[in-house]
Amino acid sequence: MDLSFTDEQQRFREYAREFLDNEVVAHRAEWDRAESVDTAVIPKLGEMGFFGLTIPEEYGGLGGDYITYCIGMEELGRADSAVRGIVSVSMGLVGKVILSHGTEEQKQQWLPRIATGDVLACFGLTEPDTGSDAGNLRTRAVREGNEYVLNGQKMFITNATWADLCLVFARTGGPGPKGVSAFLVPTSSSGFQAREIKGKLGLRGQATGEISLTDVRVPASARLGEEGQGFTIAMQSLDKGRVSVGAGCAGIILGCLETVVEYATQRHQFGRPLASFQLIQDMIADISVELDAARLLVYRAAGLIERGEPFGVAASKAKYFASEAAVRAANSAIQIFGGYGYIDEYPVQKYLRDARVMTLYEGTSQIQKLLIGRAETGVSAFL
Ligand code: CAA
Repeated sequence: MDLSFTDEQQRFREYAREFLDNEVVAHRAEWDRAESVDTAVIPKLGEMGFFGLTIPEEYGGLGGDYITYCIGMEELGRADSAVRGIVSVSMGLVGKVILSHGTEEQKQQWLPRIATGDVLACFGLTEPDTGSDAGNLRTRAVREGNEYVLNGQKMFITNATWADLCLVFARTGGPGPKGVSAFLVPTSSSGFQAREIKGKLGLRGQATGEISLTDVRVPASARLGEEGQGFTIAMQSLDKGRVSVGAGCAGIILGCLETVVEYATQRHQFGRPLASFQLIQDMIADISVELDAARLLVYRAAGLIERGEPFGVAASKAKYFASEAAVRAANSAIQIFGGYGYIDEYPVQKYLRDARVMTLYEGTSQIQKLLIGRAETGVSAFL
């Protein structure tokens, strides 16, 4: 499919794929069973520049455009969504908002190390009682002199137990989104505790955890943006994050397509290759069309970001469609594989388990539809 990628972007895809095939695809089943990637892969991803995509060279990144970033996310999604999450949360959700909202001191302090993977970051928005309703979060930050004191709980946080830095959203003012501020909290701070959540359906290789903050003190200079700006920062971060999730989902669909085509052309039933059966081609055609559609939505949103145009609704459409399509693609892939699709000798069951969370995190499919519906009608269904 011609999406008019430049030669440089195509070369980046090839470079990323070769590295990921050797360093990630070869180990993903073992990491999935162990419920942890080998964390030695993180500095390797750093050396290859994955954590530095779109971070300017002056802050230790590779620079590069948002289309290239999405190509990286697509290839990571094809390889292992658990690994994609480690990168996209640290650099995408946290690094990029430090770049857009941080002081020069905060950028110098964190970005060069995030851009190399030396520092891993996590995004502390969701709480035990506030998922979709993020604007009602309860974690509090109380100003005492030149410090803030943070207390509260965070839930389902990617990278929680591995991170060095947590972007914590906490309430400094009254109720609702306008009372929220953002803080760059080192995870080594006294009173910061993270506990890993085991037994996940998918994304088993990444450390998802819960965080408790008990009288965690940070200097006022750790606040990102102004008091009361935290919710807007979170939403801006998630708008871009949703494009990244969409790209990762396009990678899952691509992985499903490649895997089923190989299998269906090699495996024979009733004396013929599976690929020669019309009902098998029906499923393969749907996967192929949905891959194209997901990519078109994702790269359209990435192009809007690149050109500095409004992209929030395009991001919601890309994330909603690509995540639901990834679930459908992986489910069909299992159907084509039959019994072999149900065991972890082949990646299709992992694609399904990993795809399933994509319709939940960074804004559920229902939240994306309500954002699209609000944009179309001018009426908010959130109230
Ligand atoms: N960009 C900039 N500002 C925005 C914004 C955006 N995309 N969205 C909202 N805002 C601002 C608005 O301008 C508004 O300010 P004004 O009143 O001055 O205009 C303020 O924020 C409040 O906006 P809303 O009234 O829209 O807020 P709401 O309370 O109705 O919530 C919501 C809207 C869409 C439901 C939002 O809460 C939401 O997106 N929820 C989903 C949360 C989510 O995605 N969580 C994912 C968890 S993070 C994660 O998964 C990471 C991980 O580890 C993998």
